[in-house]
Amino acid sequence: GADGAGSGRSAANASEWKVGAYVSLSGEDTAFGTDSKEGIELAVEEINKAGGPKGKPIKILFEDDKSKPEEATNKVLQLIDRDHVIAILGEVASARSRAGGIVANKKKIPMITPSSTHPDVTKDRPFVFRACFTDDVQGRMGARFVVNELKKKKIALLFASDDLYSSGLATEFRDEAKKLGAEIVIEKKFLKKETNFTTYINEIKSANPEIIYAPIYYNAMAPIARQAKAAGVPGSMFMGGDGWDALELVRDAGEEMEGAYFTSHFAPDVPWPNSKDFVEKYKARYGGRTPSAIAAMAYDATRLLADAIGRAKADTPEAVRDAIAETKGFQGATGTINIDSERNADKPIVVVQIKNKQFTFHSAVGTNAPA
Ligand code: PHE
Repeated sequence: GADGAGSGRSAANASEWKVGAYVSLSGEDTAFGTDSKEGIELAVEEINKAGGPKGKPIKILFEDDKSKPEEATNKVLQLIDRDHVIAILGEVASARSRAGGIVANKKKIPMITPSSTHPDVTKDRPFVFRACFTDDVQGRMGARFVVNELKKKKIALLFASDDLYSSGLATEFRDEAKKLGAEIVIEKKFLKKETNFTTYINEIKSANPEIIYAPIYYNAMAPIARQAKAAGVPGSMFMGGDGWDALELVRDAGEEMEGAYFTSHFAPDVPWPNSKDFVEKYKARYGGRTPSAIAAMAYDATRLLADAIGRAKADTPEAVRDAIAETKGFQGATGTINIDSERNADKPIVVVQIKNKQFTFHSAVGTNAPA
């Protein structure tokens, strides 16, 4: 018998733990992949320096999915069938984690996505986990922040209709905002390939909203911010979700985005001991650069996986799966992680504000934010 349980046997007999990581090292979301890789490598160096789980080092096999869901499917298949990995890390974008997760689950190899937040990614897939909160929580918290804290009740929505994450988070936000008595004055959808947003921005401007909720990725938000400014709409009028969280956003549109808020997993100045420790280690390792939320999440997911491999009752993918499922009180750089019965993480949500072209901690919501 070559397939199925064979991957578990080869992992147990080898002198190292082979773990697959599929990331977007090229294509439209390159920043997601490169930041993930840095976070994973930092964690693995640390883990292996300490001897590795059960005294064996972890070896990460990286695969570039080119920012495409179809490639995510292929790469996960390769990592399992060709490389016989014991577990898989990836991806950032929910659309690619869903694609990869379908394969991992079918092949019964545990997968942890560090930061994909769409509920579908883990739903009904017993081998698929995430180290982050889900978008039903993120959308709800975002709406509460807008309505209750910023006191904005006339809201515009702007999102990518053909992206799983963007349209999903827009839906969750809309539902909660309406419940809180806010009005969605206009809703504009664009396709991911769009580069000219001026018409959308002008229509939104005419609808006279107090705030524009834009749950989109950084690579769309940067041109939107610049085009909005040219149309007389300041970046501070936008509110986002974790998809904004790549340093490219402040590099490319930091000035335009001054004052804007978004919900995320982490901020470089988040006042928690484990986070501070991570920021120092990351800076020391990567030439003084500040880590993104994606790097922090990748670091946490890798350490969480190593912890589970070490606790697993056998050296098999099934036993590692069970150990991940039992994770409680894991001390991460992004807060304390409890894996719940649906394989999602119960985690604090961080509200980040863009100030002086930097991501700065504003507040944390959720039950288990460190004191
Ligand atoms: N949560 C986003 C998704 O599910 C991915 C993301 C996480 C992007 C963190 C940026 C930062 O698609």
